[in-house]
Amino acid sequence: MSKVTDKEIKLLEKVANAHLYEVMGNKDRYINKPDNFSTVQYMNARGHVDQLKLKEMIVRCIIDHVGTSEAFLNMGTACGHLEYANRLNHERLTISSCEWDYQYECCEKIRDMLGIQISYRCNDVLSDDFEIRDCKTYFDHVILDRFFPVYRADTHHRTEEVLKKFKPYAKRAILIESDGNWTKEQWSWLVKTAERRIKISGEWNMFLIKLENL
Ligand SMILES: C[S@@+](CC[C@H](N)C(=O)[O-])C[C@H]1O[C@@H](n2cnc3c(N)ncnc32)[C@H](O)[C@@H]1O
Repeated sequence: MSKVTDKEIKLLEKVANAHLYEVMGNKDRYINKPDNFSTVQYMNARGHVDQLKLKEMIVRCIIDHVGTSEAFLNMGTACGHLEYANRLNHERLTISSCEWDYQYECCEKIRDMLGIQISYRCNDVLSDDFEIRDCKTYFDHVILDRFFPVYRADTHHRTEEVLKKFKPYAKRAILIESDGNWTKEQWSWLVKTAERRIKISGEWNMFLIKLENL
């Protein structure tokens, strides 16, 4: 049974409303940065609730199929829905969070309202000098959930290029995306390359990829 109750829904309604005022009050921060503009999705309470319910299923899938004794890095935290869903599940997963400098501010107020802290910051994953700053931990898993740099391309070469960037930081990647966002070519590569594919729900799957194999 979902742990997303009326209490969480009320909080998410407040969060959506606050984000509406945040964007309207700081238009430059959003209009001048195309990636930030996509946060208009977070003005809608229903969108937050759907995300939280999805993250809750992801947390339970990881608990059931990967385990609770490992260390996870959530790359591209945005609002902190995954971390919040983990809290609803009594913090059974040990999750550290990372956000890109360029998009750090745009969901900061949302994270504050949900009580989610960022552990690390990084520069652009597509740059040659990509770095997760001050990261001394080698994680068991880096979670790439709706992390669009991995799939916004026609072939698996971009997916592989981005995954390789995490070799210094984690043993495995957990790649989570809606099936329809992968091209046929990317899907075949993922099926061939991943150690495991775990069904989350409906159109959502997670792929576990051992980074040293890339
Ligand atoms: C659509 S959001 C997904 C947020 C969250 N994982 C979720 O599922 O709700 C994409 C995330 O990837 C990060 N991101 C996008 N492009 C990036 C890049 N080039 N370098 C580093 N991070 C990036 C964004 O900052 C954001 O946190």
